[in-house]
Amino acid sequence: MKGVKVVGFGHYCPDNIVSNKDLESIVETTDEWIVKRTGIKERRISSGEGTVELAYKAALSALKNSNCDKDDIDLIVVATTSPDKIMPSTACSVQGLLGCNNAAAFDISAACSGFIYSLIVASSLIRGTDKKRALVIGSEVLSRIIDWSDRSTCVLFGDGAGAAVIEISNDEEGIISTCFSSDGSLGKKSLVAGELELNTPFAKDKKLEKRYIEMKGAEVYKFAVSIIPQIVNELLEKSNEDIKNIKYIVPHQANSRIIDDAARRLKVDKDKFYINLDKYGNTSSASIPVALSEMFEKGLIKRGDKIILAAFGGGLTWAGTLIKF
Ligand code: ACO
Repeated sequence: MKGVKVVGFGHYCPDNIVSNKDLESIVETTDEWIVKRTGIKERRISSGEGTVELAYKAALSALKNSNCDKDDIDLIVVATTSPDKIMPSTACSVQGLLGCNNAAAFDISAACSGFIYSLIVASSLIRGTDKKRALVIGSEVLSRIIDWSDRSTCVLFGDGAGAAVIEISNDEEGIISTCFSSDGSLGKKSLVAGELELNTPFAKDKKLEKRYIEMKGAEVYKFAVSIIPQIVNELLEKSNEDIKNIKYIVPHQANSRIIDDAARRLKVDKDKFYINLDKYGNTSSASIPVALSEMFEKGLIKRGDKIILAAFGGGLTWAGTLIKF
């Protein structure tokens, strides 16, 4: 079977830093509560840039870091839960801005698992069609779907984008194993956002009830702490690997207590998990590619290293992949 390797990463987050202290003047909260319950210290919040603009800037950085020309890209897949528009897709807008004239482009909606879902879909298309090289992007302006008067959610999220270039390979490297799944019955009860108006002459009830993110935090928490170890164990089994050979686990960056718990359940040192949620909060589909891009910048990942990515989110969805660099 043809392999698919990851060539490089890039990311872009808005300059505007909103600290926990800043939020103290918006809702009844404290820096101490947010740090203790989540590990988040600050997040980036857009002061005007949209999801397309963040995605475009992350893509430019990924192309540069991959030494890749725009004309080499024949597929663009964007994961987002907070698009600027329903149509055109974020991916098509990014394609137009980049001038990737040879690329097919579409979006994927799988909330915080969206980047890994997109990686799996793009790598399957590379394996199964004439597409050879893809840009896979996670981009979110979640601040537009946050209720800024709800302290239980507005302290958790941030805006940002991360991108990867992946391409066909003949070597035994790249995306070694994958898993992805969903449970829609859990999702509609515990995590919803972005209801659209049915403002037609035929509609009986035009009221919007779920315009902003509504989350049953404790239910999502319970789900998250069991699903991360499940993803990791499934990937290890499918790849016939031992966790001691995995250099890093890069989890969805939602809450440091979830990561502590996952490390304890997997009986591994917490240092095996890469964490940057203290600086960005939860950026949904952008969280994993932003983390990977930072890790490359810091020189933490070398050729031959094996890394596991694991995500969960709205839907509910979950997904993981084991990658050899
Ligand atoms: N500041 C101060 N107090 C607060 C705040 C706040 N920002 N938010 C809630 N509280 C209060 C509550 O009102 C409650 O008060 P009460 O005891 O008087 O009723 C108390 O703090 C405890 O609230 P809990 O909700 O029980 O707090 P918990 O320890 O469960 O932490 C949290 C809440 C952080 C949301 C946690 O449940 C969590 O992280 N859940 C998982 C969320 C997640 O992972 N989401 C990501 C997946 S989905 C996606 O990414 C789109």
